[in-house]
Amino acid sequence: MVQLTGPKSIKCAVFISGAGSNLKSLIQFSKRKNSPISIELIISDNSKAKGLKFGKIFKISSKVFNYKNRLIAEKKIISEIKKKKIKIICLAGFMRVLSKDFLKSFKGKILNIHPSLLPKYKGLNTHHRAISNNEKYSGCTVHFVNSKLDSGKIILQKKVKITKSETAKSLAKKILVQEHKLYPKAIKEVFNL
Ligand code: GRF
Repeated sequence: MVQLTGPKSIKCAVFISGAGSNLKSLIQFSKRKNSPISIELIISDNSKAKGLKFGKIFKISSKVFNYKNRLIAEKKIISEIKKKKIKIICLAGFMRVLSKDFLKSFKGKILNIHPSLLPKYKGLNTHHRAISNNEKYSGCTVHFVNSKLDSGKIILQKKVKITKSETAKSLAKKILVQEHKLYPKAIKEVFNL
């Protein structure tokens, strides 16, 4: 469990690659009274990530890193994170795998959200695979990040029913609505609130 050190909120960085709807919900959560986090930094590997607009809208410092060389990108990210005294990292649709060295630098302080009921359907195309396997339920999971893909300790999960006419698109939409509630809830859980 991450301990709150005082009345101040914990500085958080959010990593994105795409639309950033989870980033938006985390920003809204951070702005609530008594929120345990303040989002100080948005990091992306993709200069075209739509979610970067939330940095502009909410005036949060955003940085894009070129991932042609992961080692160099991560070195720069670590330096930025240390400069800003970031204490917790939330991955939100970040499409890169973090190196073991990066994970070591922030051990137990990196969270991720995944659109399935882990340990089922790690990796990509989760909705399509869940529907093809005739699952009755899918959902989303917030977990700590370790060196194996989508395998760290689970913090919270939310189940979502798969209907008969479900498509990967409709399921993704339904699950995303739950993701936006689950991530803030999981952060509260991490801080024992
Ligand atoms: C979400 O479904 C998240 O679970 C997955 O990638 C998607 C990101 O969506 N890791 P958004 O960029 O937060 O809208």
